[in-house]
Formats: sequence, C-alpha cells, structure tokens
Amino acid sequence: APSDPDLVARARAAKEKLGDKVFVLGHHYQRDEVIEFADVTGDSFKLARDAAARPDAEYIVFCGVHFMAESADILTGDGQQVVLPDLAAGCSMADMATAEQVAECWDVLTEAGVAGTTVPVSYMNSSADIKAFTGRHGGTICTSSNARRALDWAFQQGEKVLFLPDQHLGRNTAVRDMGLSLEDCVVYNPHKPGGGLTPEQLRAAKMILWRGHCSVHGRFSLESVRDVRERIPGVNVLVHPECKHEVVAAADLVGSTEYIIKTLEAAPAGSKWAIGTELNLVRRLANRFAAEGKEIVFLDKTVCFCSTMNRIDLPHLVWALESLVAGKIVNRIQVDPETEAHAKAALERMLALP
Ligand code: 13P
Ligand code: SF4
Repeated sequence: APSDPDLVARARAAKEKLGDKVFVLGHHYQRDEVIEFADVTGDSFKLARDAAARPDAEYIVFCGVHFMAESADILTGDGQQVVLPDLAAGCSMADMATAEQVAECWDVLTEAGVAGTTVPVSYMNSSADIKAFTGRHGGTICTSSNARRALDWAFQQGEKVLFLPDQHLGRNTAVRDMGLSLEDCVVYNPHKPGGGLTPEQLRAAKMILWRGHCSVHGRFSLESVRDVRERIPGVNVLVHPECKHEVVAAADLVGSTEYIIKTLEAAPAGSKWAIGTELNLVRRLANRFAAEGKEIVFLDKTVCFCSTMNRIDLPHLVWALESLVAGKIVNRIQVDPETEAHAKAALERMLALP
C-alpha cells in the first residue's frame, strides 16, 4: 500500500529540520516506507561500520532490530544517542541465547576440560550481553558477510569454536566454506542438562553450535528449492546462510543481504532468480530489477516477513523524528559501560579481521 502522504510530508519536514544532527540507518529488511528515509542502507556489517563513521551525528536513528541498535550504541561515541523507533523490534534468534544460559554453557565446557581451547564466535544477531561474554573470553563477533574470516581467525587462536546463537550460519560456514564435516559439529541445547552432550562429544567436536535459528530463514525447505527448479527451468537459487544446511547445500549461491543485492546487480538481463531471504527485500529487488529483464521470485511463498523488522513503520519513524525535533529523545538504546567495554572488544576484533 502507498504510504500516507501526510506522514511522508511530516517525516520529510522533521528530517530537514534535524539536518546533519540526525543519521538514519535502514537495514535491507525494512519496509519501503522506511527505507525511503534512510540516509544509508546495508546489511548488519555495513550498518555497524556506517554507524561508527558518523561521529558528528548527534542522533542515530536505527531502523532495524534491537541488537543492531545496541551494536551501534557500542560503536559510536559517548555524546551520540541511538534511537530504535519501536522497542518491540527484537529478534527471535537473539533471544535464543541469554547471558545465564551462555554462562552455564561455559561451565559445562570448563568441566569437560575444553573451555581453555575454545574460542567463542558470536553472530551479530545476539544481545550486548552475549557480545560482552564473547569479548571477555577472547572471541570475536561475525556477521553473515565475514563468518568465514571470523572462523579462520578463531581456529588460529584455539582448537574449537563455540558458535552462537545461529546453528545454521555456524554449520553452513564450517561445512560449506571450510571443508569441515557434519560430524565435526555438535549442537549444544541450552534447555538440556549439559547441553544434551557428553564430555566426550564436546572433546571430539571442532564446532560447538548453539541451538538457535532464525524463525524466518529456518522455514525455507529443500522442497521449496526443488519446486522452484521444476517451475522455473534455469533458475539460480540464492539464499541467506541463516537457512538450514540442506537448503544451502541445494542452492547455487549463498550470502548476506548485501551479497544478494550485489549479485543481482551484476546478473545479466534475462537471468532468473529465486531468493531465500526476507520478503521486504525480495519484493523490492523484484520490482527494481524487473525493468532490466531480470526475473526475481521469492523462494517459498509460505514464508513471510520478519515480524520484528516490520515493527518499524512510518508512524513510528515519524514519532521518533518529531520527538527529536521537539528536543525529546525517545526509545534510546543505551548499553551499560561495563557490558559495552567487553562487547566493544569483540566487535573491534571483527572490524579488524583481514
Ligand atoms: P545480514 O547481515 O545479511 O543483513 O543479515 C541480518 C539478519 O538479521 C538476517 O536475518
Ligand atoms: Fe532475527 Fe531472523 Fe528477523 Fe534477522 S530475519 S532479525 S535473524 S528473526
């Protein structure tokens, strides 16, 4: 549906009044009505870098989800304030690893005698607490665009990796990109005593994968890949690495949202693509590239939007911007200094990866 013209005018006016004081970041999964007002768009890696690259902006309005806004707060200066237009914009995957559960997991690894040789690698899609845990134990953060480099680095530091919270990104990167076997990976279930693993299993494993997943990408299935190949002969299947291993193994190409966009930009006219990632992005790409004769379809019509990404809509953005114009900061995301220091160490390790 087209955006309410009144709200569009109000968003424009508020942004104009704020000028360089405000910097609006938009993740690729955001609604069109929100993306329209983003000063910069990107995947989670690019947005983390971009947030840190505007030290002059007093307000960072983050159109994305909670963990992204936290990361922006950690990476920006003390004088800068980060706003998340709707506080209910969380991430179900990030919620699958709590600080208590991860501390308990580390105790389990310690008892099995493997904590000393294990390096934590945490996906960006995790709370600031988990990032701080990672920093405290000498680990790094990664995103879907640098997971391979993060794991290469981690295996230079230790013998094993504790990868959290997305088991699929961990497994896909280790097996598809690095040649580890599925048997090298075990899954730690935080809801079972000892993670549901024996000390022997922990000692034998190279990758200890946290039992977390994305509720959107986890729904793409091997059948959807088979169906689309039958329906559209010659189609290229391109999916996000948060998809299940069997889906990634059956796809032609795998990568982050930024990679997906770059790949489609470079694709020849007449090529056909089935994309396995969030629906707002796929629709936008389908519309954008239709004019160039590139056919883009959504991999599985039964999968829908990321509901938490969609919480950020134009009314919330207008409210956040107009509040700033009125001198009132709403929905500020502020990580406490102790957590921030350790989380920052882990994030900076990621930013320094070769
Ligand atoms: P990207 O880093 O590819 O943008 O992914 C972020 C995300 O939340 C995917 O679900
Ligand atoms: Fe979280 Fe998945 Fe939504 Fe990304 S798409 S924000 S991982 S729930």
